Amino acid sequence: VFAQEKHRPQLHFTPPTMWMNDPNGMFYANGTYHLYYQYHPESTVWGPMHWGHATSKDLMKWEHQPIALHPDSLGLIFSGSAVIDHQNTSGLGRNGVAPVVAIYTSHNMDWEKAGRIDRENQSISYSLDGGQTFTKFAGNPVIKNPGVADFRDPNVSWYAPGKKWIMALATQDRETFYSSPDLKNWTKESEFGAKFGAHGGVWECPDLFPMQVDGKTKWVLIVNINPGAPNGGSGAQYFVGDFDGHQFIAQDEETRWVDYGRDNYAGVTFHETGDKRIFMGWMSNWDYATVVPTGSWRSANTLARDLKLLNQDGKYLLASTPVEAVSNYVNSTKTIKSNQGVKTASALQRLSGKLPVQDFSITLSNAKGEKVIIGFEAASNRYFVDRDASGDLSFSTKFAGKAYAPRFSKADTIDFSLITDVASAEFFADGGLSALTTIYFPSEPFKNLKVTATKGLPFLLEDLKPSI
Ligand code: FRU
Repeated sequence: VFAQEKHRPQLHFTPPTMWMNDPNGMFYANGTYHLYYQYHPESTVWGPMHWGHATSKDLMKWEHQPIALHPDSLGLIFSGSAVIDHQNTSGLGRNGVAPVVAIYTSHNMDWEKAGRIDRENQSISYSLDGGQTFTKFAGNPVIKNPGVADFRDPNVSWYAPGKKWIMALATQDRETFYSSPDLKNWTKESEFGAKFGAHGGVWECPDLFPMQVDGKTKWVLIVNINPGAPNGGSGAQYFVGDFDGHQFIAQDEETRWVDYGRDNYAGVTFHETGDKRIFMGWMSNWDYATVVPTGSWRSANTLARDLKLLNQDGKYLLASTPVEAVSNYVNSTKTIKSNQGVKTASALQRLSGKLPVQDFSITLSNAKGEKVIIGFEAASNRYFVDRDASGDLSFSTKFAGKAYAPRFSKADTIDFSLITDVASAEFFADGGLSALTTIYFPSEPFKNLKVTATKGLPFLLEDLKPSI
């Protein structure tokens, strides 16, 4: 439907029209993935936040649904999560139907204008039709602000060993963990992070979840931060460690990032996906999100990504790769040799390859000489994406530039895949240990592709078909 709109991604989730930011409340039930998102239905810039809603069978093709949550007397509906209360601990279920409970921040704009510090409080709403329509809980807010201006983005999950709900809440410069028997009454458990990680901005949108690795359970804590990302503006840092239902202990003091590109923010994972952990982020950056040159809508999400922990020199690192379902959208394939180009590539494609460690670059360009360059610099052991000449840069002085991702792998070959979709490139190297996501706005689609690498086998180039 939207195929003709300039800069509209064809494989990524975008709102039908108007403004979108963070993905919210994602969960899977009965063969359907639910995605909610920060939405302003009346403007292409941020404003009174609602939860927009979309559903998908495969995380690729999304169906728009009616708005799920509207602002109320407690405020705007900021970011948060959703759980299925299987055991009806909340008592909000009816007739044996387990409620879907959304837990989010009520942000009171009037109180903000009046300079009140207690403007952010946590609320819940419940759905008895699987997440389609919600009723606000009469006892909101369920957590009152203790005097912290940035007090938001609750992410809740069931902690089976302790038979209780655990909430990770972003509280300015740290995470605060709460627990609850019933989603209504919450007790503070502990804090993490005042002395860990990046602190160039406010901590936002956390996610805490277990993963299996080497026969053990390790816990991952994702902490989005804005500003303070390694390449500027918004970004998603993560910590790996242990969690005992009370406290999170990190394995080390290193600050690492889910993605080193400039356009993967506020990402969290889907709930109720069993052993899988599926991540999705907002493919933008507060440095320029409100002024990017798209038309009737603003922002796309990243592709859904499978997360894994990999043991790297005794530390567990997070690796992300696009979900397998991307392969169902392959139209045709061909191979291209090192140091070769393709003149009529598609604006929607996947390039993958394996090559000995060496300098290499992949250039996407158009006839106007606009281009994005992605590659590896062996001397500094870093991957990069350069959008200095990517087309329209005029909307923000913070947009142009080069972003770098460290290479963590010590292997003597590099495997990578790069998915481009009209206005974005997502690059994954070394099984996803290094990721770089970037957006761009060329005046004409990038249809030329050139790879420079002196050693190595041919690369696989797949033409992808739209999922919208
Ligand atoms: C992150 C964020 C959240 C907040 C939401 C408001 O991008 O600032 O912390 O809940 O956006 O739309």
